[in-house]
This record gives sequence, structure tokens and C-alpha cells, in this order.
Amino acid sequence: MPGTCVIGLQWGDEAKGKVVDLLTDQHDIVVRYQGGANAGHTVVTGGQKFKLSLIPSGIFRPHVQCVVAGGVVINPQALLEEIDGLKRRGVTVGKNLMVSDRAHVIFPWHLEEDRLLDDCTGGEAIGTTLRGIGPCYRDKVGRSMAIRLGDLYQKNLRERIRRIAEAKQRMLAALADGAAIDALDGEAIYQRYAEYAERLRPYVADTTTYLLDAVDQDRRILFEGAQGTLLDIDHGTFPFVTSSNSSGGGVAAGSGVPPRYVTKVIGILKAYSTRVGGGPFPTEQDNEIGQHIRDRGDEYGTVTRRPRRCGWFDAVAARYTARLSGADVLAVMLLDVLSELPELMICVAYELDGQRIGHFPSQVDAVRRVVPIYETLPGWRQEITHVRRMDDLPENARRYLERISQLVGRPIEIASVGPDREQTIFASE
Ligand code: GDP
Ligand code: IMO
Ligand code: MG
Repeated sequence: MPGTCVIGLQWGDEAKGKVVDLLTDQHDIVVRYQGGANAGHTVVTGGQKFKLSLIPSGIFRPHVQCVVAGGVVINPQALLEEIDGLKRRGVTVGKNLMVSDRAHVIFPWHLEEDRLLDDCTGGEAIGTTLRGIGPCYRDKVGRSMAIRLGDLYQKNLRERIRRIAEAKQRMLAALADGAAIDALDGEAIYQRYAEYAERLRPYVADTTTYLLDAVDQDRRILFEGAQGTLLDIDHGTFPFVTSSNSSGGGVAAGSGVPPRYVTKVIGILKAYSTRVGGGPFPTEQDNEIGQHIRDRGDEYGTVTRRPRRCGWFDAVAARYTARLSGADVLAVMLLDVLSELPELMICVAYELDGQRIGHFPSQVDAVRRVVPIYETLPGWRQEITHVRRMDDLPENARRYLERISQLVGRPIEIASVGPDREQTIFASE
């Protein structure tokens, strides 16, 4: 079975949504397998812009089955709003969407915990999306206070929700230490979630079995990663990460499809770097260059509209993440954003405590201390948004891509020169 995976190799927002939409036609099934409504994936089609949080970016091709697998954490209200929003705009959402009964459910207490516990380092905040993602995954691992989507259809739901709400109320009051917190009315929450459950019933299924059958039938599956490899809970810039395995390793755990069936990994990179929220960012340009990139790239969070921090391409980080996520090929996105800059810098190594290093450090304080060593490449001044073939790019743009490919150690299969489906260059064409 050919299984392709689209994985972000930076700190998220690499334009995974665009790539998934582009590749959907060559697949039978598109699967989201981790993260939740912290993701914001943009697809521009037919002059319309869509922002997806929980629903796979394959939803615009009605003949393709979209699956939200068990590794995703689901806020039912957010999911229902997303379904309604798409339907209102004429997108088919029915049998083509399937949501796992194993997926864990986000409750109001998770949102409150996210707000209260964001500053876990005694200084810099993680700057989460406040969608309750971390607290929900924490309860999943803890088990005793977790509720999965399938549990919403069990007879004891009222009792469970009331019991958990009471315990959470006590925990939150202690955490808030006198500050105001929302009261958790277990009965009211039960009523709301029972209603969500009814509305979601047509979509809820055992997606693990569905996907394992699909593997047996040799159907083509496209896995859509959320976030980026540097936000991976185990291998990212911990603790400034998200709470799931957003690197390639997360595909099997989140979907239930064994790793051997993922036969191709496409690593998605921006032609520069961005990051939303707290945490170290070696090549950050907190200056007019960063602002120029932010303006040209419209670098404001899809979910929270926070301004994204912007900086130069970091080849040390990208080489680490391409290896970690097992990228076979690269897609380099938003190349057009760099068009007006006279010179471009690429970070080729770090200096740490006076020594040159080529690897990405494991400890966050070391990532904070590294000084990037840059290589300067000439920019190109031409507009490139109309270019459709590699050979038609300005020579300096081609050289820039070639250098990225060389430093990361992977071939470039796709280059993107604008948000629209059409604004794409396939290396093979
Ligand atoms: P994702 O989370 O990885 O799917 O990425 P986001 O949707 O959060 O952010 C990517 C943004 O870049 C979106 O607004 C896209 O519409 C836009 N985009 C995608 N590809 C290109 C490109 O090649 N050039 C430009 N200028 N914008 C792009
Ligand atoms: P997509 O899929 C960029 C960041 C948050 C914060 C950290 C933890 O659109 O690329 P969380 O709410 O997950 O606990 O926040 O991770 N973050 C993202 N940054 N793109 C995303 O998703 C992100 N999802 C989470 O800003 O720094
Ligand atoms: Mg995004």
C-alpha cells in the first residue's frame, strides 16, 4: 500500500494544508492523526480561502475519504462549527468524513487548565493556542479523568462527567489560588456534550479498523501531519512544544497504521523560518527584516492571529528534522515571500560556547545560547508568483533552493510561489 505522509519540518505553519490539498487527488483517503484545533491549515481553491483545524485538508475532493484518527484530540463544539462552516460554503461534508471513536474529547476544564498552566517554566510562557490541547493529552496519559469520543455514547456518561467536573473544580480552584475561575457545572456540561454526541453520531466510527482494511485493500492513504517536527513532544524544543508527536514518528501511533506502510515522507519547509508562541528560535530576526517577511508572507497565526516570529532559514534545524521525520523529499514553500530582499542568509552551523557545532542541541537552554553561523546568498528582485517550472525561476532563486537541498540533504520535489493551488512548481515538470 502506498502511504504518503506530509510533515512540517519547522515550528508549524509550513503550508502543509496547501500540499495536502495538492496531493489529495492522487489518494483515496486523507488522515489527520495527531494534534487538534491548535492546527490551522489553509487551502486556497477557486479564489476562496479555507482554514481547517480538525478536518483533513482533503475535504475539498468529495470522492476522497477524510479520516480524523484516534490520536487527534477533539473539541466537539469546534468540530461541529467547522463542519457547519464548510457546509455553508458549499463543501460536501457527510459520509466522506469519519471521526475516530478512540479520539479523546476536550472539555471546558481543559481550556481552563490551559490558561492557568501555560507558564510552566517559571518565566517564559509556552504561549499555547489555549485550545485545551495539552491538558486533554495529559488526561489521556493519566487515564482516570479521560473521556473518549466513543464514551459519549455510553450509559454512564452523565455520572462520569459529573464526577470528573467535581474533581476538576477542586483542582482548578487550588491552581488558581484565589483568582477567578469558571464554575464547572457537571450537569450542564453533560447536557451540552450529549447534544454534541448526537450531532456527531453519523461521523463516529472505528477508524483504526477502517484504515487497516484500507491497507489490506491497497488503497492510497495520505497522512496529514499537524504542527511541525520542532514542536514534537519528545524531539522538539521541549518544553516549548505541543503535546503530541508531530514528527514522523506520530503517524503510526496516531492512526493505527503500522510504520512500514508509510512509504514516502514529504518534508514541508518554508523558504525561511517562523514560530508562534514562546521558546528559542536561533535565526529569529526581531528587526525590519523579520517585519518585512511578516508583511509579505502575511505571517499572522491562522488560529490565533498572533504575529508570527520570523527569521532566516535554519539548515541545522531542517537537517535534524528531515532526518528525524524520515523525509524522502522536500517541499519548499512561500519562496515568493523572499523576492524583494537583496541578500538572503542561511544558517549553516551554530556556535555553542565558542565551538562550532552542526547538530541541533537537545536542551532548550543550549538552543537559546547558540549563535547562528550564516552563509549569504544573493537575492532575486523579480516577482516569481507566475513561475510554474524550476527552469523559469531566476537563477538566484534556483541557487537558493539548491543550497537548501544540499544542506538538508534531500531533493526538492515541490516549490511554492503563492497560496493558490496553481502557484506550484513540481521539480519533475
Ligand atoms: P499549515 O498550518 O502548515 O497548513 O500552514 P498555514 O495555513 O498555517 O500557513 C501557511 C500560509 O501560507 C497560508 O496562509 C497559506 O495560504 C499561505 N501560503 C501557502 N503557500 C504559499 C506560498 O507559496 N506563497 C505565499 N505567499 N503564501 C503561501
Ligand atoms: P499547524 O498545524 C504553529 C504552537 C503554539 C505554542 C505551542 C504549544 O497549523 O502548523 P498548543 O496549543 O499546541 O499546546 O501550543 O505550539 N502551535 C503551533 N504553531 N502551527 C501550529 O499548527 C501549531 N500548533 C501549536 O503556538 O507555541
Ligand atoms: Mg497553520
